[in-house]
Amino acid sequence: MKTSVITYVMAAAFGLGACEDPYLPSPSGGGGQGGIPASGGGSSGASSADGGSSSQGWEWSLPEGFPIPKVPDDNPMSHDKVELGRRLFYDVRLSENQTQSCASCHDQALAFTDGLAHAVGSTGEVHPRSSMSIANVAYSATLTWANPVLLHLEPQAAVPIFGTMPVELGMNGVEEELVTRLAADPLYEALFAAAFPDDDEPIAVGNVTKALASFQRTVISGGSPFDRYAYGGDATAISEAAKRGLDLFNSEKLECFHCHQGFNFQDSVTFEGQAFASIKFHNTGLYNIEGTGAYPEGGEGLYAMTGDPEDMGKFRVPTLRNIAVTAPYMHDGSVATLDDVLDHYAAAGRTIDDGPYAGVGSDNPYKSNFILGFELTAEERADLHAFFESLTDEAFLTNPALSNPWRQ
Ligand code: HEC
Ligand code: HEC
Repeated sequence: MKTSVITYVMAAAFGLGACEDPYLPSPSGGGGQGGIPASGGGSSGASSADGGSSSQGWEWSLPEGFPIPKVPDDNPMSHDKVELGRRLFYDVRLSENQTQSCASCHDQALAFTDGLAHAVGSTGEVHPRSSMSIANVAYSATLTWANPVLLHLEPQAAVPIFGTMPVELGMNGVEEELVTRLAADPLYEALFAAAFPDDDEPIAVGNVTKALASFQRTVISGGSPFDRYAYGGDATAISEAAKRGLDLFNSEKLECFHCHQGFNFQDSVTFEGQAFASIKFHNTGLYNIEGTGAYPEGGEGLYAMTGDPEDMGKFRVPTLRNIAVTAPYMHDGSVATLDDVLDHYAAAGRTIDDGPYAGVGSDNPYKSNFILGFELTAEERADLHAFFESLTDEAFLTNPALSNPWRQ
């Protein structure tokens, strides 16, 4: 039984086999979410009122303007599960050599990223990709940088625990050891029993991933100065410079909002009441090795999953919430600062002059039509930085409910 759960979640996570989630092609509409509010004043409609069927009585406490997250029917939210998931998220016993937890690569102070270009696993293996913020991950229509079939947090949580490509927490092959370790702790015995009261053997791998998913659905960031301005009706919450930066971000000159759209600055989102989850991937011209459109080996994005040449270099749009604290940037951390990000977009793609990845990104044949390049004055650049800074949610970065419970 336990083995089959693991086999299923691994297959779903790596897209290797049968998977209950159908591949959903991108709907042409934006999934019903509008652009980013351009001016202060008024609420934007969706709010936290009631739970929705799959939330089964759970009371969301959501920021103004945020829709209700979707929750799988077989893993309803509960306070006990969230508390258990939080313990697990911060517990190094989830790694084989007991050196790393989820939080080692998802640090709250850095909006649940790790400050590295490439994540480093518990055995020192270097991940081909950069760790991602899990802020508002409950709303992501697909998970990780470029996987069209990894749609739920439950199977995703198994990847770092058991995955071997690369090794992160390194529990592959020692699933029973994980259960034994957790069962040896009386605190976990009580927490699992409370979280899964109907189970005969509540301490099980499938329940570990369920609890981790429930906790992560509460990792919500919507309390930045930008939110107070755009959704809270506080016209003075951000500076005039940040307001000009927001207008630039939303302008046809910069086009940022086409992809970084809606309440989470992201076009692949899912939530209660939406007709179709919006699933999209884009090539932003970060590479164009030898003019062939190629991205570095191991960093090909959606292409690695589909094998379709058109999918070369396509990645899911990451949220821009807390972007000022999540450097370095992009799927491989190859862009060091937000200034460099702006240079990349201003040039309509990055040019790499020499070395194995040399090429003119702006000529990448698979690049999105929205990456057209632009010129910025020094003042406009400063305005954009003020806008980026306004997306930092200090209360989120220090929210005690999301912090390490073992230290209290
Ligand atoms: C060794 C560092 C490392 C550890 C440990 C780790 N992660 Fe991650 N995490 C990453 C990286 C790297 C990515 C991006 C992976 C990719 O795109 O293939 C990621 C992506 C994610 C995502 C997807 C976020 C999104 O926006 O789609 C979630 C959710 C996540 N991790 C949760 C977890 C959980 C839960 C644990 C603990 C069980 C964990 N991570 C442990 C490095 C790590
Ligand atoms: C065509 C869609 C698209 C447009 C337009 C776009 N982006 Fe992006 N953005 C993406 C994708 C996809 C990524 C991830 C790319 C990667 O990792 O290779 C990204 C990454 C980023 C990142 C890094 C995020 C992180 O967590 O590493 C920042 C910052 C960013 N974009 C800002 C902007 C700004 C500012 C603009 C407007 C000048 C803009 N984007 C326009 C799709 C887009």
